[in-house]
Amino acid sequence: MKERESSPPEREYLPRHIGIIMDGNGRWARARGLPREMGHRAGAKVVGEIIRHCKKTGIPHVTIYALSTENWKRPRKEVDALLELLRRYLSDMEEYRRENARLIVLGDTAPLPPDLRESIRKAQEESAGNTAITVNIALNYGSRAEIVRGARLLAQECAEGRLLPEEITEERFSKALYTAGQPDPDLIIRPSGEQRLSNFLLWQTAYAELLFMDVLWPDFTPEHLNYALHQYARRSRRFGGV
Ligand code: FPP
Repeated sequence: MKERESSPPEREYLPRHIGIIMDGNGRWARARGLPREMGHRAGAKVVGEIIRHCKKTGIPHVTIYALSTENWKRPRKEVDALLELLRRYLSDMEEYRRENARLIVLGDTAPLPPDLRESIRKAQEESAGNTAITVNIALNYGSRAEIVRGARLLAQECAEGRLLPEEITEERFSKALYTAGQPDPDLIIRPSGEQRLSNFLLWQTAYAELLFMDVLWPDFTPEHLNYALHQYARRSRRFGGV
């Protein structure tokens, strides 16, 4: 399948926020007779290139699914390799400065190793004022857990008398999620041929366009992203209206 375009669409047709489920690393490795960790390493190399392409194209928010709450079930060796890739990615502060990128981690960081939590804290703090692009990394993230956490935060405010149940609106609830203050994703891309959301941004994707592509994530190029953006631009978005 072609699934490639040499250039992106006009800026006025671009999404403001895209989410990417980086899938197919394991299959990419298996096809080459390599251990799964090598697939993740190849996938991690693609991340920077695709985010730079988003920035250059004019997409201000990107969310990538790096580690789900379910991924801990994988063999220890694979989980450790993923954490090591994230460690490297999150400690490259020079890159965030150079790209003027703001980094936000979505998910429960409490169970992560202390040094990784420290890298996350530092990266978020030091990049908070950067304005060219916001990069959300979903890490130990699960959408249902995020929604339950939001419900608890609001319930706590009610219990303390700072909020009335009837003041809980969709807007107020959105502010209790990790993505508070950011636009909802307009487009979700899942490479590798799988067609599901896998507990990714379930609240935020209520009206998102979904695009499933056949390419495996380590083979994903800026041309594949251009293709996805053209598909998005062609779809007519009605938000339930006519
Ligand atoms: C899914 O492929 C991918 C993951 C579970 C991890 C994605 C993580 C990275 C690309 C690297 C770390 C991220 C950053 C930001 C540096 P899979 O293993 O489920 O593939 P399969 O379905 O082919 O087995």
